[in-house]
Amino acid sequence: MHNKLLNNKPSNSASTASNPIGVMDSGVGGISVLHHIRQRLPHEHIVYVADSYYAPYGNKTAEQITERCFTIADFLLAQGVKAIVVACNTATAAAIKAMRERHSVPIIGMEPAVKPAALASKNGIIGVLATVGTIKSAQYAALLETYGAGVTVLAQGCEGLVECVESGTLTDEATRHLLKQYLAPLLAGGADTIVLGCTHYPFLRPLIEEIVGQKIAVIDTGKAVSTQLQKKLVEAKLLASDTQQAEVVFWTNSQSNQSSQVIQKLYDEVVVVKQLPLT
Ligand code: DGL
Repeated sequence: MHNKLLNNKPSNSASTASNPIGVMDSGVGGISVLHHIRQRLPHEHIVYVADSYYAPYGNKTAEQITERCFTIADFLLAQGVKAIVVACNTATAAAIKAMRERHSVPIIGMEPAVKPAALASKNGIIGVLATVGTIKSAQYAALLETYGAGVTVLAQGCEGLVECVESGTLTDEATRHLLKQYLAPLLAGGADTIVLGCTHYPFLRPLIEEIVGQKIAVIDTGKAVSTQLQKKLVEAKLLASDTQQAEVVFWTNSQSNQSSQVIQKLYDEVVVVKQLPLT
């Protein structure tokens, strides 16, 4: 008896272990996830796409975000990627289901670390900093339903923080002022654990920790994503050989002439940054 292939998605049989991994975000925030990926999988080639011209995603509709994700995924697949990491909580919530229906390569997404925070919290009060889009999403509601039982979750939608990171203004007074404003209700509510529910926010961690003090734990999801990615590559027999010399290429559609400096500052290395045409 023959096995029938019951889906009509394009096959990923052309993917080989030496092909790159695609990492995408609304902008440069996903570089916080990329750091974890590089640490765990140092031999993997990476193609990173910052959709910065269209950032922030947090105030866009799920339909608009899904359209952007399809465009970026098509670009990445044209580069031959063997897997895609959606290094963006907002895009994961809005579009990952549709992306998985559309493409057969492994697609790894992310969601705010409510589960580990609920386990780590001593007083049962956790704070979540995320985009308005993430907090309003059905996926976030489902996350709370599954892991939020027995804890109080104080969610804070943060407008303007993505822009601070996109422009590389990580420690300015204006950034501090915004953060203080968003952290105040979480501190007043007694949160002892704060989740960074947007991949841009780990770059603001020094300032966040300075504001909340040492007694409050700050958690992000980047490391868990790299573990999940490794698991998926192993399962699909797509892990690069440990003799491969990894190459990391950045693409951005930012129109700012500072964009390559910002990427180098966040990635912490001199890198190749290519201009992604506006689509
Ligand atoms: N890095 C994206 C996230 O994790 C930011 C979303 C945005 O552009 O608003 O949610």
